[in-house]
Amino acid sequence: MTTDAFIPTVSVADRAKLEHSEALVASAVSHGWFPPRHTVEITGMRELDTNVMCMTIRDPYIAQHGRPAQFVDFFTHDPMRLMPRPFGIGEINGDEVSFIFAVVGEGTRQFAAMRAGDVIDVLGPLGRPFKTKEDANYVLVAGGLGVPPVIAAAQHIAGLEGSRSTAVFGYRKNHFADDIVARYADTVHSIDESEGNVITVLDRIEDELKASDLPPVILSCGPMPMMKAIATWAAKRDIPCQFSLEQRMGCGYGTCVLCTTDTVDGRLKVCADGPVFTREQLGWE
Ligand SMILES: Cc1cc2nc3c(=O)[nH]c(=O)nc-3n(C[C@H](O)[C@H](O)[C@H](O)COP(=O)(O)OP(=O)(O)OC[C@H]3O[C@@H](n4cnc5c(N)ncnc54)[C@H](O)[C@@H]3O)c2cc1C
Ligand code: FES
Repeated sequence: MTTDAFIPTVSVADRAKLEHSEALVASAVSHGWFPPRHTVEITGMRELDTNVMCMTIRDPYIAQHGRPAQFVDFFTHDPMRLMPRPFGIGEINGDEVSFIFAVVGEGTRQFAAMRAGDVIDVLGPLGRPFKTKEDANYVLVAGGLGVPPVIAAAQHIAGLEGSRSTAVFGYRKNHFADDIVARYADTVHSIDESEGNVITVLDRIEDELKASDLPPVILSCGPMPMMKAIATWAAKRDIPCQFSLEQRMGCGYGTCVLCTTDTVDGRLKVCADGPVFTREQLGWE
């Protein structure tokens, strides 16, 4: 017996939920309000590396309004797990938005078990994005799971007339996001722990950056020690930096005060005042 290839479809109940959600978002937008938590369809789930997943959702609102380094809160189906899990917006294609996440605990384990055709609740886009108004050579430096915001930045910058981008990715082992960022960045450099780290690459390309007709501006996301090392490297060369922080979060929109970080202006909320902060704001040198 032959069977047709499996085409994932949402169930009748899920379809009703999605239609209700579309109406909810449309109603909020027509009143000039930010859309509330709503249900969207997962259109893709694939493993990029061991315990690293790429999840794609269909959400016309987030696809249209999401900016690099903004994030989306994802809710599990588990009623005992009230707090959402934030993920940085990655690649955007039409109505679809992709997210790359590591499976580190119960929430991300549940997401990783979902498949195309399942539904999930989201809230976003949240937070303040990277600033890319100035014509520059944007040096997009990511480590580990810090790649989504800089992939989004590369895609955004590819659409800007006067700017270019140079991606610098540091991995533990497998270079799982090189092919994604290569679709948008003008140049891609990547390195894994067997060869060095992102500072090794920045040292290597320093002359190239100096020779460019555009001034370098660093946009970065990844582990805190990596971002602090980049800040020190950039401070010595007077290169402006913007860092996207990944603090542990609760609500994601400024009410629970779980996500604060030290800045030169006192403690600020990473979700609402950030996640993007400049080197000067963080006092990193
Ligand atoms: C603005 C923002 C954007 C983010 N974007 C991404 C992304 O694009 N891809 C991605 O893989 N992860 C991202 N994270 C981290 C992600 O939200 C957490 O890994 C996730 O919430 C863990 O959920 P869990 O239920 O699986 O883990 P839990 O069971 O809640 O925790 C498991 C482990 O993960 C650690 N953890 C939980 N939350 C964080 C956090 N915010 N930062 C660092 N460690 C954490 C815990 O300390 C614990 O050790 C982002 C976080 C923030 C604040
Ligand atoms: S996560 Fe609740 S205030 Fe930032």
